[in-house]
Amino acid sequence: MLIGIIIIAFGSIQSTTCNKLISSELGELESGNFIYYKYPQNINFRLELDSLVGDCDLYVSDRYQYVNYTNYDLQSTTCGKDEISIDHDLKRPIYASVFAHPYYSSCKYVLNQFADPEEADLINSENEDLNESDETGEKESTLWWLLINLLEVIAEIFL
Ligand SMILES: *[C@@H]1O[C@H](CO)[C@@H](O)[C@H](O)[C@H]1NC(C)=O
Ligand SMILES: *[C@@H]1O[C@H](CO)[C@@H](O)[C@H](O)[C@H]1NC(C)=O
Repeated sequence: MLIGIIIIAFGSIQSTTCNKLISSELGELESGNFIYYKYPQNINFRLELDSLVGDCDLYVSDRYQYVNYTNYDLQSTTCGKDEISIDHDLKRPIYASVFAHPYYSSCKYVLNQFADPEEADLINSENEDLNESDETGEKESTLWWLLINLLEVIAEIFL
């Protein structure tokens, strides 16, 4: 009984290492297509790909920006959860791609990035979704920032 509790406690300590969620991407891909991501941070981390619908595979490289099933350094192509741990054997930035296995008509996935909490504290750059430009998002947040500042100025004048 006591030993059981100790084992369970130890197990949960083990599973909390490398467990701080750094980023999470939810996506959907048509059969046979790739989507590409870039991880610039100079930390050790783990990528975990869950296929919610269909079967998605994960490829990683430090050499090929558009990493695929012929040009990659690490791969995980199981039917269930795909996991790749990335340490300093690979240069940064890290390129990753999700591939929708052609056996299914599409794949829906969650791609999570985990790191040790101490590693996570060292992060000072953003990931990039190589398939999307964030320009509109940035413009919108700048506008909000201006509006909030304006409201603050107005509030100060009247109070
Ligand atoms: C992502 O971008 C690459 C290169 O521009 C393109 O080949 C690929 O089809 C795109 N994938 C999706 C899902 O848009
Ligand atoms: C994989 O990528 C390489 C170089 O980036 C390219 O030459 C090759 O055609 C690609 N293969 C597939 C199957 O897309």
